[in-house]
Formats: sequence, C-alpha cells, structure tokens
Amino acid sequence: MRHEVQVKLIKQLETHLDAHTNVDAGGLMRNPTSVYIDPELAEREWNEFFVRHPQVVGLSGDLAGPGSFLTINDLGVPILATRDSERRFRAFVNSCRHRGTLVETRERGDDASSFSCPFHNWTYGLDGALLGLPKADHYGDVDTACMGLVELPAVERHGILWVQPDPAGTIDVDALLGGELSDELGSWNFDSLRHIGDDAYDTACNWKLAMDTFGETYHFPVLHSKTLALTFHGNVQCYDTFGRNHRMILCRRAIDEMLSLPENEWRITTAGLPVYWIFPNVQLMPSDFGCFLVRAYPTPGQPNQHVSRISFYIWPGVEVGSAEEDALRGIGQAFASIIRDEDYVVAASQQRAANDGSLEHVVFGRNEPALHHYHSTYRAALGMPPLPLVADNDAF
Ligand code: FES
Ligand SMILES: [Fe+2]
Repeated sequence: MRHEVQVKLIKQLETHLDAHTNVDAGGLMRNPTSVYIDPELAEREWNEFFVRHPQVVGLSGDLAGPGSFLTINDLGVPILATRDSERRFRAFVNSCRHRGTLVETRERGDDASSFSCPFHNWTYGLDGALLGLPKADHYGDVDTACMGLVELPAVERHGILWVQPDPAGTIDVDALLGGELSDELGSWNFDSLRHIGDDAYDTACNWKLAMDTFGETYHFPVLHSKTLALTFHGNVQCYDTFGRNHRMILCRRAIDEMLSLPENEWRITTAGLPVYWIFPNVQLMPSDFGCFLVRAYPTPGQPNQHVSRISFYIWPGVEVGSAEEDALRGIGQAFASIIRDEDYVVAASQQRAANDGSLEHVVFGRNEPALHHYHSTYRAALGMPPLPLVADNDAF
C-alpha cells in the first residue's frame, strides 16, 4: 500500500479515536433473514458466484515450485491446480479422461512429476497432458494429444491464484478488482508469502453469515473481549469500497504509541489490520508477519450450512521448520480458533433465528457499512431489489 494512503487511513483512525466516532453508513439497513435460508436464492448464488465465477483458490505460496499441486473440492467440479515445469500456474478438472475417476486425491503436495489415475493408471503431466496409458495396443488406437485433463482458465496475479470452474468461462482480474484495488494488492508482494498451515470449519450457518462476521468491529469489545479486543480497539475502522470489493482497516491498540512517531515511520500494519473482501467469498488480511486468507463456501442444497477454509502465510526470512515458524503457525491457529469458537458460534445462532422464522429481518447499523455494501452488492448482481437505507427510528 502506498505510504501516503497508509498515512491517510491512519489519520482517519486517529480522528475516530479522538472523537469517539466510527465510520457511518448514513442510515440503517433492514436485511431479510430469508436470504440465509431461501433454497432458490442459495441455488442462484451457487451458480452465479461459485460454479461460473472466478474463484480465489489460494496464494502463489500454495504452489511454491514446479511439481507442487492442490486439489479443490469446494466448487462442484473437482479441481487439480499445479505449477508446471515452466513455473506456470495451471488448473484442470481432476477427472480422468478414461472413465472419470479422481486422478489426484491428496489435498496438496510439492514434489509431483506426474499424476497417475488409481483406476487403470493413465498418467498425466503437470501440464495436464496424457503422458501414457497401460496396454495402449489393447485399449484402442487413441490420439493421446487429445486426451489430456480438461483445462480450466487459471490466472496468477498479485500473488493470488484465480481459477474459473467453468471450462468455457473467463477470468478478468482487472475487471473483478478494478484498477485502484488491483494496484494496491500488487503493492503487497503477496507472491513472496510462504504457506505454513490451514484449518477448515464445517459450520451450521449460511456462507453469507460467515462473511458477515468479518464485516464490522462493533462486536470486538463484547464477543472478543478476552481475545481480539486485547489487541484491537473495537468499533473503530476505516472503510472503502472498490466495485464489488471492499477494504476495512481494523484499529490495533499499537496505534496509540505509533502516533507519537514521525509520519514517515507510520505503518498501516502497526496501526491496523487491513481486511480486503474480494467478492464473493474471500477475506485477505496482511499483517507484519504474514497474511490470513479466509474463504467461505456454500454447501450445495443446504442453505444453512457452509465450509470455511482458513490459510496462514508468512513473509520471507523465517527459516523452514524453525521455532519462529512454529510460533507464527501457532498465531495462525489461534486466530482461526477465535473464528471457530467465537464468530461462528454466534453465526450458527443467527442461522437458527433465521431457520425458525422468528425474525423477519435483522438490522445493519450505521457503523456496519461493510454489511450494507456486501448485501447490496450480491443483491444487485442477482437482480434483486435493493435494500434502502432507513432512518434510525424506522428500522425496527
Ligand atoms: S478411469 Fe482413470 S485410468 Fe481408467
Ligand atoms: Fe469477530
């Protein structure tokens, strides 16, 4: 992030702290609870935002070198992502061209030279090409050049791995992010991050409720009183939108001391935690020691269930297998367990309220603009009527 932008954002946090204010969405917003349970809406979201929409499947560090691979089973079509011998990021349908068996079943690896189907041992290269099949003279005289794994559009940009699960679809990262956000994400050097761990939570709440928990810090002094509130000022944040995406800056308590330094020593990762929300289901949070990536996936056919995947990455300079790396992994796991044990516990209780129909709507506050924007954005994308801002006293 350019230093002048960092200073501008830090000054916004300072102003809020001094005046005891927060960002203001300009009104309240009533959100119908049906959006968390409606099976028709869930199906439209699945089709429009997941199986036919470019997806962030990881960061460059997930595929550190030639021969590294990932399998992804959250998007309907099974995906095998690789880094080929030319270091190019590739993605394929992970289904054997012979009779459809999953070719690679491991979640990830870093030393593959080829992929062999467990059924009859058809073997594919890192570039998806069919390298060979046993007893080719018995099987039939096929042109192996036409029998490679089905390739999916895949783009690596700003250290972020994007895949389009629809083989006939496209990925236009510039259009997805817009120029300003694209430049800002490029400035972080995410491609230098190293992957050090993951966690995954299957939770009884709609995927949007999981995303909603990342949309404000109003809850920090309450829900996270013994955890995140020790590190962050609650109910203070910066908020900016970039098309369908947005960026929040959470306010670290370390800002108090940092503000006494000259401006040229101010750093956004000391003063805050940037939270980039990449439409539709990604939260990216760079910090002094690395980055968290959170992705939420609907469970098809079950609007009240979803899976969140949380990945931890660190900046270069930490030795592989060192005590320092272990300590940073511990921080990542502690963060992930706060999401599981605090945020997703309340998200599941919100889901129960939606399920039982006791509340027709919930109300997003003036200090929760990310929730206004997110719900307005996906509604607009699906052609649903907008949710108007309402005056404070008219919302309930
Ligand atoms: S299904 Fe893969 S080799 Fe037969
Ligand atoms: Fe939270």
